[in-house]
Amino acid sequence: MSIISFIGPKGGIGKTTLSINTAAALTRALQSTQSNRPICLVDLDLRLPTIASLLDSHPSRSFYDLFEALANKTYQVDFLRTVYQMLATFRRYTEGTLETGDPQVQKQFSRYQTLKTELFHFGGFEFADALHELFLKRGEVQTPAQVRELADVVHAIPLDKLRAVLLKADAGSRPDPGDYINHIEEYGFSLIGGEVPILGKREHRRRVNQPEFLLLFLDFLRGVFDRFEHTILDTPAGGVNHLSSLICQIDQVAFVFDLSNTLAINGSIDALHTFIDYYEDFSADYTRGQLTGIEKAYIERVQAKDGKAAVFGSMKNKQMGLVFNRLEDLKEVPPALDRLRQYLDTLDKYHQYKKRIHILGLVPQNKVVNITNNRGTLFYNMDTTLAGRMDQIALGLASRMENCPALDEPDRVILNYLEKFKTPSHFSVFGG
Ligand SMILES: Nc1ncnc2c1ncn2[C@@H]1O[C@H](COP(=O)(O)OP(=O)(O)O)[C@@H](O)[C@H]1O
Ligand SMILES: [Mg+2]
Repeated sequence: MSIISFIGPKGGIGKTTLSINTAAALTRALQSTQSNRPICLVDLDLRLPTIASLLDSHPSRSFYDLFEALANKTYQVDFLRTVYQMLATFRRYTEGTLETGDPQVQKQFSRYQTLKTELFHFGGFEFADALHELFLKRGEVQTPAQVRELADVVHAIPLDKLRAVLLKADAGSRPDPGDYINHIEEYGFSLIGGEVPILGKREHRRRVNQPEFLLLFLDFLRGVFDRFEHTILDTPAGGVNHLSSLICQIDQVAFVFDLSNTLAINGSIDALHTFIDYYEDFSADYTRGQLTGIEKAYIERVQAKDGKAAVFGSMKNKQMGLVFNRLEDLKEVPPALDRLRQYLDTLDKYHQYKKRIHILGLVPQNKVVNITNNRGTLFYNMDTTLAGRMDQIALGLASRMENCPALDEPDRVILNYLEKFKTPSHFSVFGG
């Protein structure tokens, strides 16, 4: 299982194009391996997913459906959890083990008064009527002291059974990734995500900022990662933002470098720098046990499943690679590399990162790649020169960038490497 992510500073620099074609190239590269469905492409652009329509593949369930499913089920589970805590307190209060002035009683009483019940589906379990009655009585219970009048109905709801219902609902609230993965026979890889803009819906915009909800989504994604040899994440501009805790799980980051002008180069360098900063902070907080919020919650889950060593290992071994896109001339590369080296040097980071940042490959500016008629989006195999370029990138990723020159190699070596794969003559490397 390896996770590859294409990252770039802004829209329109080729993240989606490169993600799609890398999926195709890697699929071809791994054709002869045992796993027959090794590659999954994930459209993580929740605002405007495009890959499904670009590939004319229409998933029966999109991330929008996933968000709906997670939201509906989580709502039920959260409601039951709240009610469980409330009833546990009410029970102790009616039995006399808690005083009226106890902060727990006050807190649970105000929850009781304000909890929204409209969306909760009562029913389906034996004490559902009692639960319903509990909330019907709200009008009669005006003060915490009056909670005593609820003693009968409170005791009519068995806490152990409520707990069992809660645990069952919690387990059933996890959607099966298999239902959302769309295998595209024509291309040999799988796709997940698309086609509906998820964040167009206000509730979903809110939800994506709720840690409990995000954790469910991240758990789901981990279920996807587990099923494939390589998962490629197509991220929206600026990275994964709300999904930042995913960063700790990405094994290889491919930065799409835009060399079209000085400003663009600076933007690409800045994206790389931001990533390094984020990643360093994350690693430091993790090492010191100072992660908080969703990052803490998420890492604890990964750790529980894979162990602490795996988390450390995945952070230590993270690889970074550069892909130059829309290149007009190879001569543009050395000045950009120098700029990056100098920039990192000014930050005192060059020596630390010079061997970890690799050159993955390049894709020239090419008219075959033309999104306006969509047919050029998946250009792999349509143009031998471009396919050769993609093979170089795929081979680099398949080898965890071991074959790729690092940033500290002489420009001559880097340029030679970039020129090596102009044509797909090395197909034999893949056994294809
Ligand atoms: N190497 C290239 N040559 C020509 N056009 C390209 C190239 N790479 C990307 N494009 C075009 O640039 C536009 C934006 O690409 P896209 O992959 O959607 O960028 P992003 O995902 O970063 O927003 C698309 O129209 C695409 O066809
Ligand atoms: Mg995109």
